[in-house]
Parts: sequence; structure tokens; C-alpha cells
Amino acid sequence: MSDRFDSPSVILTGAGCRRETGSLMAALGARRTLLVADPFFASGPFMTELAGSLADAGIAHEVYSAFQPDPTEENVRAGVERCRAFEADSILAFGGGSGIDVAKMVGASVANPGPLSRFEGYHRIPNRGLSVGVIPTTAGTGSEATKVAVITDTDRGVKMMILDPKLMPAAAIVDYELTLSMPPPLTAHVGVDTLTHGIEAFVSRKANALTDPIALRSIDRVQRYLGRAWKDPEDREAREGMALAALEGGLAFTNSSVCLVHGMSRPLGFAYGLPHGLSNAVLLPTVTRFSWRGGADRYAGVARVMGLASPRDGDAYASEALVDRLDGLNAELEVPRLRDCCGGDRGAFRSTLEKMAADALNSGSPGNNPTIPAAEEIMELYDSAW
Ligand SMILES: NC(=O)c1ccc[n+]([C@@H]2O[C@H](COP(=O)([O-])OP(=O)(O)OC[C@H]3O[C@@H](n4cnc5c(N)ncnc54)[C@H](O)[C@@H]3O)[C@@H](O)[C@H]2O)c1
Ligand SMILES: [Fe+2]
Repeated sequence: MSDRFDSPSVILTGAGCRRETGSLMAALGARRTLLVADPFFASGPFMTELAGSLADAGIAHEVYSAFQPDPTEENVRAGVERCRAFEADSILAFGGGSGIDVAKMVGASVANPGPLSRFEGYHRIPNRGLSVGVIPTTAGTGSEATKVAVITDTDRGVKMMILDPKLMPAAAIVDYELTLSMPPPLTAHVGVDTLTHGIEAFVSRKANALTDPIALRSIDRVQRYLGRAWKDPEDREAREGMALAALEGGLAFTNSSVCLVHGMSRPLGFAYGLPHGLSNAVLLPTVTRFSWRGGADRYAGVARVMGLASPRDGDAYASEALVDRLDGLNAELEVPRLRDCCGGDRGAFRSTLEKMAADALNSGSPGNNPTIPAAEEIMELYDSAW
């Protein structure tokens, strides 16, 4: 079986590269763009600058910002209406993973009518939609370089994972200066999401020759820069390192896969209203402790690139050192414990585990894990992360 590698056609990186947005969108054929902008940025100097860059390139735009973090199908529907009314020929996302995923699904929905549940899972979008350019403002989901969108179906109570190469953005514009405004908790949550992408891409049963070095590079950067960016939001070198790590994490996992942490994180995030990065972070150490025996050499590789073990140390020792480091990183970044995110009532929490475990398994992600769990084991993992 062959391995396939998808990426945006163009990736710009570097301080100030956002100023090239207009000419890049024009080169993609854009004349009328729906600008899906995160509410945090919907007014202010960056928006003014972006509007100017589009106008200079002869591109008319309309702003759509009425979506929530961890967005819903309703958010996408409203965006599609705006897109049609404006007769947009292209989409530009300017925001974190939420805005980017809304933009991707608005672009796809214009050419593919019907409820988004039609597209849930793998390779189920029939027609190519509008071209999408992406400017991420968190570091981050890596969604600027993935063929994935995560949208909540509130009726069924499920965070749908939609994966299709037609969702890969045409252009990614990764300008770390846009991330300088992230407060420390957001930096921590989205940064541990990045680390989870790198680790899961590397340990996945779908890991391959092209994704391995990119995943390890991402992990290495997180180890060096996340703590610094959390301590000092203005540390430009650390912000740049994390923006690159997020991009690499996205490229790695979208061409390999995510695994059990993400499989368990989506139901948990939906059930308790946790942002995506936080719901990963509270699970990552516990799930790693459970998983490493199914692929000790891979987890040891992660530990070694993080400088936690030497080549002479055995794989089991290195894997345990990784689990310790993940626990320590959460503590250092002041990530709350799961019990503090879920109302503190353990009995009530336990009554939700069966549905969460079933939803986790249904997403398919646990099947990529080095150790593949049964539903009861997933319930135990949620319980021991408490
Ligand atoms: N498509 C993918 O490949 C992929 C991968 C991982 C996660 N996701 C999805 O991405 C979403 C989460 O995205 P996220 O973690 O980037 O957060 P987000 O986009 O939900 O943003 C979180 C909060 O941060 C604010 N914000 C964004 N940028 C900021 C900045 N520079 N300064 C200050 N505040 C800022 C937003 O306004 C929002 O309130 C979830 O829905 C998750 O499921 C998608
Ligand atoms: Fe993620």
C-alpha cells in the first residue's frame, strides 16, 4: 500500500508574511473573498491591515465572525448563507482552529449540499469546493495544513471529524506575530494540542517515512519553546518556534493520523464544554502511560528527541521518562486536572463514560493507536485521568 502526502500548495512563514495575503489570494484567482475572521480579531489593526492587503490586490471581501470556539454545524450553515449572498469565489480564514475549520466547511458546503453528517469520517466529500487561504492565529491546531475539520453536531451530541483531501487549504500564511496576543492558558492548551499531534503522528500505525521527521521536529520545538512562550508571551523566538511546531504537527498528523488521545478528547470536550487543547492536555499523560507498551520503540524515540533519555537507555525506561515529562509539563503550564474541569462530581462523571467511550471508538482514531483499547479500557482511562 502506498503512503500519500498532502499539503497546501503554498506555505508562507516568517514575521510579517501576512502582508502578502492579498497578492497570494489574487494568484489563487480570488476576486471576492469571504473573510472568516476570529471575533478576537474582527476589529483592530490586524484586520485593517488585512483589508488593505486584499483591496490592494483588487479583492472585495465580506467578514463573517459569528461563530463560536469549537464550532457547530449551525455556525457553518450561517457562513454558507453569507458566502452565497456575497457570491464569494474564495474563502480566507483568519483565526484559530475554530475559524479555520468553519472556513473549510463553508468552502466545501457551497459545492456539496446537505447536512455535514454526510461527510463525517474519511473521504466522503464528493465535489471540490472554493479555494481556501488560511492565516492561523493560535499555535496551534495545525489546521492551516490539514485535510481535517472538526464540527459539532449539537443534535446528536457528537464532535464530527471530517477528513478529506478536498479540505486541504490552498495556501497557509503562518505569521507568528499574530500569536503574540495569546494569554498563557491559551498558549498552554493549544501548545499541548500541538505536542499531541506530533506524538500521535509519530506513534500511529499510519506513521510513514515522510511524516516521521516532521513529527519529531515538531515535538523537539515544543520541548524547547512552549515553556518559554507560556512564561513570556512576548518571547518572539519562542512564538516563532511554536508557530512552526504547530504547522509541522498539522502536516505530520494529517498524513499519518491522530490516535487515542484525540479519539477520547472529542467526546470529553463536547460533554463538558472543554476547549479542544485542554481536553487533550488532561488526557495525554494517562493515555501515554496506557499506550507505550504497544510501541515502546516509538515512544522512546519521542523521549530521546526531547532529551529525556539517551540512546543507551532502554525503550521502557525512555517511555516512562516521557510519561513523567508529560505530567510535569501539565503541572508547569498550570493545566488543570480533569476533575477540576468536569464539575468535581465523580459519580456524575462516571455515568457519562459509557457514551464517551462509544463515541471515542466510533471516531476511528483509537484504531490507529499502538495499543488498541476495548470500550471498557477507554472508560477506565477516563476514570484514571480524573
Ligand atoms: N482541523 C484540524 O486539523 C484541527 C486540529 C486540531 C483541532 N481542531 C479544532 O480546532 C478548534 C480549536 O482551535 P484553537 O485551539 O486554535 O482555538 P480557537 O480557534 O477555538 O480559539 C480559542 C479562543 O482563542 C481566541 N484567540 C484566537 N487567536 C488568538 C490570539 N492570537 N490572541 C488571543 N486570543 C486568540 C479565540 O477568539 C477563542 O476565544 C477545535 O474546534 C478543534 O476541534 C482542528
Ligand atoms: Fe488536536
